Amino acid sequence: MSLAVVNPMPIQTGQQNAKSMVSIDAVTMSFGSYVAVQDVNLTVADGEFLAIVGPTGCGKSTILNAIAGLLKPASGTVTIDSAPVKGVQNDIGYLFQQDALLPWKTSIENVELGLLFKGVSSAERRERSMNWLAKVGLKGFEHRYPHQLSGGQRKRVQMAQALISGPKVILMDEPFSALDIHTRHLMQNELLRLWQEERRAVVMITHDLEEAIALGDRVAILAAGPRSRVIESFPVELERPRDVAEIKLDPRFMDLYRNIWASLRGEVEKSYERRD
Ligand SMILES: Nc1ncnc2c1ncn2[C@@H]1O[C@H](COP(=O)(O)OP(=O)(O)O)[C@@H](O)[C@H]1O
Ligand SMILES: [Mg+2]
Repeated sequence: MSLAVVNPMPIQTGQQNAKSMVSIDAVTMSFGSYVAVQDVNLTVADGEFLAIVGPTGCGKSTILNAIAGLLKPASGTVTIDSAPVKGVQNDIGYLFQQDALLPWKTSIENVELGLLFKGVSSAERRERSMNWLAKVGLKGFEHRYPHQLSGGQRKRVQMAQALISGPKVILMDEPFSALDIHTRHLMQNELLRLWQEERRAVVMITHDLEEAIALGDRVAILAAGPRSRVIESFPVELERPRDVAEIKLDPRFMDLYRNIWASLRGEVEKSYERRD
């Protein structure tokens, strides 16, 4: 397993010098005759947090599923750590918008699942899961079932579940969009705290531009579909650690927001026009 690259400087911004962890080369994704995304090129460095924004239906989840190996590109290649993606990947942590917890399993049993599939012994599974639940602030909640937890707590269990196996790449599909704004800020800060401890390559997709800027090292904009492509990519040179609620008040954040919105806005409008 490769360790995340940690910048020795106390103020960390981009990860320009790190090796490429995810590489998407000339990828086209189709569903029958419908071409959702066409000729997409993107790379994510090891330890880099890439946020992808684009209007609803433009192909964000489709791209994420191609990285995860759940969907096969019509053409082009995806590589992770220099190996071509063929079939479902094991080195990936996936965080979804929906609750992906098994309702009939407790927090700890849910967190243990990833390790179970990897053949880790039961004693080690238990110990590592206990540690991860403590790390996400759920000490004492190990034996609760999902319905006995709040939305934020369930999200914490999901984070532990996604991170426990030390994935090379973390994929996030609008992970916080179902939460109320305060819980969302809390979870975004939690995520940043965990990620700062051990930096991995992250690809997060979102339709929320504020979230993309607050969390990302870089924000890539997708065009409205069909045949969506990356239209522009903006580095976010705001120092870390960040507090997501605070950083939105920073004038540099607002400038960046204005710039990126100028590029994204037209795509959002197009996507509305195409809807009947
Ligand atoms: N399994 C599928 N079959 C047919 N069309 C699909 C399928 N999955 C997604 N699409 C279409 O591809 C486009 C991109 O979808 P998706 O990646 O889910 O968008 P996003 O995540 O950006 O909202 C949409 O127009 C959607 O209707
Ligand atoms: Mg989606």
